[in-house]
Amino acid sequence: MTEHAYEFTHAITRLPASSIVHGLRAEDVGNPDHAQMLQDHAHYVSTLHEAGAVVTELPALEAYPDAVFVEDVALCLPGVAILMRPGAASRRGEVGEMESTLREVYDEVLSIDGPGFIEGGDILITAKEILVGRSERTDAAGVAELAAIVSDRGYRLREVMTPEGVLHFKTDCSLLDAETILSTKRLAASGCFENYRVIHTCDGEEAAANSIRFNHLLLMPAGFPATRERLQAEGYEVREINNSECAKLDGGMSCLSLRFQAE
Ligand code: GLY
Repeated sequence: MTEHAYEFTHAITRLPASSIVHGLRAEDVGNPDHAQMLQDHAHYVSTLHEAGAVVTELPALEAYPDAVFVEDVALCLPGVAILMRPGAASRRGEVGEMESTLREVYDEVLSIDGPGFIEGGDILITAKEILVGRSERTDAAGVAELAAIVSDRGYRLREVMTPEGVLHFKTDCSLLDAETILSTKRLAASGCFENYRVIHTCDGEEAAANSIRFNHLLLMPAGFPATRERLQAEGYEVREINNSECAKLDGGMSCLSLRFQAE
């Protein structure tokens, strides 16, 4: 199925626009500093390079403040990309802005047409299955439309629930390897990872859960030392990246890229 769930050759990112100060957020803890965000974004891209990625860096889109969070607009699977239909109305236009880039890479590009909604941040691909968390941004109809597309291609999709008050499913979890998930305790308590080995984020470090495994490296947000040490003790090769500005908009490591294996 998705045997290469953390092995990738390519990534797509988009530079943060100065309009980022108008980005969506659950709670207003101040505007992100654009200059700091550019610096962090450059570090993120250089770390993807270190992990072996060929990175396509798209230009900033001033019209769409949240467009730096490219993961939400598409799902990249071997052989097919699927354009999402974001639950946030202000983000729907980002999808069309991504389409031509995906068509350069993929022979087959499909789309979620609605009426449901689904965002890539709610989708975790593992070696066994595709997990989709229903959330404020992803509804049952959106999940059902994706399930119909991927089941035709031999994937098993399992619908789960994103914890209440959490933006996306992957705000609270990441894939560490073929059988291991990094998860907050609150998400793991739902039982959704019963068939996996789970490593919990340490108490008070829940925001560390939005990390990404890209080949041999684990990119995680800086500032969560207890969780970092736990992961290093398990043998993961960690790279920390400052995420203070994206965090003000509920964004993390996974949100900042689309990751895939070129054919
Ligand atoms: N600020 C990211 C989002 O709400 O989609």
